[in-house]
Amino acid sequence: MARPRHSAKAPPPAMPPGRDDHITLAVLGMALAAATVFVVARDARHDYRFYQRGFRAAVERASGTDAAKAVPAGPQQVWVSGLQRADRCVTCHQGVGWAGFEEADHPWRTHRRDLLAAHPPERFGCTVCHGGQGWALDADGAHGRVAGWSEPLMDDVAAAGLPPAATGRSLVEVNCNVCHRYESRTAGAESINRAKALVVEKGCRGCHLINGRGGLIGPDLTWAGDKNPEQYDYSRLPGRHSVLAWHVEHFKDPRALVPDSVMPNFHLAGEDTVALAMLVLSWRRGPADASLLGRTPRADAVPEVEPAEYEKMAAGPGSWFVRTGCVRCHDVSALGVKSPTPIGPDLSTAAEDTVRRFNMPIDQFLRTPVGTMRAVLTRQILLSPEQQAEAVRQLDAAYAAYRQSASNAKEGDRPGVQASRMNSIR
Ligand code: HEC
Ligand code: HEC
Ligand code: HEC
Ligand code: HEC
Ligand code: HEC
Repeated sequence: MARPRHSAKAPPPAMPPGRDDHITLAVLGMALAAATVFVVARDARHDYRFYQRGFRAAVERASGTDAAKAVPAGPQQVWVSGLQRADRCVTCHQGVGWAGFEEADHPWRTHRRDLLAAHPPERFGCTVCHGGQGWALDADGAHGRVAGWSEPLMDDVAAAGLPPAATGRSLVEVNCNVCHRYESRTAGAESINRAKALVVEKGCRGCHLINGRGGLIGPDLTWAGDKNPEQYDYSRLPGRHSVLAWHVEHFKDPRALVPDSVMPNFHLAGEDTVALAMLVLSWRRGPADASLLGRTPRADAVPEVEPAEYEKMAAGPGSWFVRTGCVRCHDVSALGVKSPTPIGPDLSTAAEDTVRRFNMPIDQFLRTPVGTMRAVLTRQILLSPEQQAEAVRQLDAAYAAYRQSASNAKEGDRPGVQASRMNSIR
């Protein structure tokens, strides 16, 4: 028998909702919306208790209830007496010293071992290396992501907008070098090591005092990292305005930021500009406390020039160039003068070269120098007219010695006059 399409006795139509139901639904809806907002908000800004619960649960899963009970609760801190500072990072980063959480998410992950072995957290804390705000108990505050905090966490947020060579991990090296600045190499600070080699290779000390040694054409860089961010002129800096970004751009092309600069464009690779900028930022005053400096060296170890070698040069035929300070930037190989930082050309042939390079005879060049030598002869080495005449005689003598040895030498065995390490910067 076919079922009737409509039952004969249709149920009574549902009653239209009444006023009371409207109110109930509205209240329920609002409660649901409020709960959603609450959960989302809590999820975005977890309290440290959330991370402690998470860590305890992870320890319980890995090692059982007893181990989990040993996980400390409540705010945790390390008193770094050498800095008179409390670091509370371990309140959330509870896993740093626990083996077995190498793959866990932050903040529960085990820390790299060798670093904490050399720098025990109970003495060093965390912020000496990472930056951030030690005492804060919320993540944004602790990570220094708040307006006006000058030591942001060295992480990928700090590196955003910088060339790819700058990553959170590499930026930590800036802080390493505050304590390790006088080492020529520090294991684990590879960008900084590279930058230190560049300072020697490019002859930065020809123009800059660094740790008390060097020239006076550019500013003293010994504590350049302490310069106030507001002292920089950012008006020509494209992109993000930070001190690090300023230095990166300045190393890329000094005159792009300081149009009348005599600092050469070294045509550095991108990662080298970042490495040098990091090195400059690390040249700031750090902890003075022995508990944080240990046996790290407190002064540059390697003298630029062997004292014995210097004495020999100063007593030889090129003594005028040594005494007058030209040796800071120039070799005069024909007279046995060797510069620690030869950023200028070998002066052996200068008596002739200025005609070709600057379209002036040597005496005129010394009276009206251009480029770097204008800065040198107006700021660093001031020559009286008599001394200018002496300089011409000395340069002529160097050229005579050069030609003499060149004509003595067999073909293919001519004394090599080293080309300048620097491109002409005019
Ligand atoms: C309120 C909890 C909390 C505190 C306090 C805290 N952190 Fe974190 N930290 C986190 C969380 C969560 C993450 C992972 C998510 C993120 O990067 O924000 C993290 C990530 C990190 C990272 C990795 C960042 C990255 O993206 O590579 C570093 C480094 C770090 N924290 C250092 C610190 C230091 C140093 C302190 C103390 C000054 C500190 N944290 C304090 C919760 C915290
Ligand atoms: C001696 C310097 C130093 C100290 C002290 C130090 N760290 Fe680190 N930390 C580093 C370096 C360097 C790295 C990157 C390690 C690597 O090569 O993976 C790192 C990595 C981290 C990471 C992972 C970040 C990432 O990019 O993967 C966190 C989180 C972290 N440290 C937190 C801490 C906390 C919390 C403390 C304090 C208990 C601390 N660190 C103490 C140097 C240090
Ligand atoms: C021929 C001289 C000369 C050489 C070589 C030289 N500089 Fe400079 N440098 C200057 C002068 C002049 C200034 C000031 C004008 C300017 O900011 O460009 C300067 C500015 C700087 C500044 C900015 C300082 C500040 O506080 O504003 C830094 C950093 C710097 N030099 C680093 C270096 C490094 C690192 C090297 C080697 C790779 C180097 N310089 C090589 C002449 C030189
Ligand atoms: C607050 C100062 C300070 C900071 C910041 C610092 N160190 Fe050290 N570091 C020390 C001291 C002190 C020693 C132990 C030296 C001693 O007394 O023998 C040391 C030792 C070392 C050693 C030698 C370890 C050994 O067993 O021989 C290395 C490598 C090292 N640090 C690398 C780093 C790196 C990489 C960073 C940055 C991630 C860093 N340091 C940050 C002070 C510091
Ligand atoms: C701070 C570094 C510095 C010092 C100190 C310095 N010079 Fe120079 N000098 C240079 C640089 C760099 C050049 C190349 C200039 C250029 O290309 O604009 C140069 C070029 C010259 C030239 C032109 C050479 C040529 O072949 O074209 C002469 C001549 C010269 N210097 C003489 C001297 C004398 C003499 C002294 C000592 C009184 C001296 N310089 C000290 C950096 C220096």
